[in-house]
Amino acid sequence: MFNKGLFAATFAVVAGATAYFSGIPVSMAEIDANKLYMNHCKTCHGEDGHPTDLGLGLGAREFADPSWQAKTTDERIIDQITNGTPEKMMPFKEKLTTEEIKALVPVIRSFRKK
Ligand code: HEC
Repeated sequence: MFNKGLFAATFAVVAGATAYFSGIPVSMAEIDANKLYMNHCKTCHGEDGHPTDLGLGLGAREFADPSWQAKTTDERIIDQITNGTPEKMMPFKEKLTTEEIKALVPVIRSFRKK
């Protein structure tokens, strides 16, 4: 049972890495928000919403933090991704569509720890 799970997890990571490097453009019809996150956000915010050293150095917060999740609205998250913060986080309004930015909100929410 355990080995099977481990195999599945390893496979998922390898498949994810392959998708990441293949550079196939994401079609407008089906937005893969997790992939968008891994491509654009992970460098600072980490795979699981826990900031990387680079993110921490710039002042990124812990997305798992329930109190941050509770006080942050979806609008705030969309605004942050769209406009960024000067010298901390680049704006994504030129890189991502409005739909893609909205699709990232549930990804951010999924990092919440109870
Ligand atoms: C270059 C590093 C970097 C990248 C890449 C980056 N961010 Fe950020 N992000 C930051 C920093 C630093 C902050 C804190 C900004 C501040 O305090 O104003 C932040 C803040 C945030 C916040 C919190 C805003 C708040 O009100 O607390 C959200 C949500 C967010 N980023 C989402 C994203 C998403 C989604 C992506 C990918 C599309 C992304 N970030 C890419 C560095 C980054």
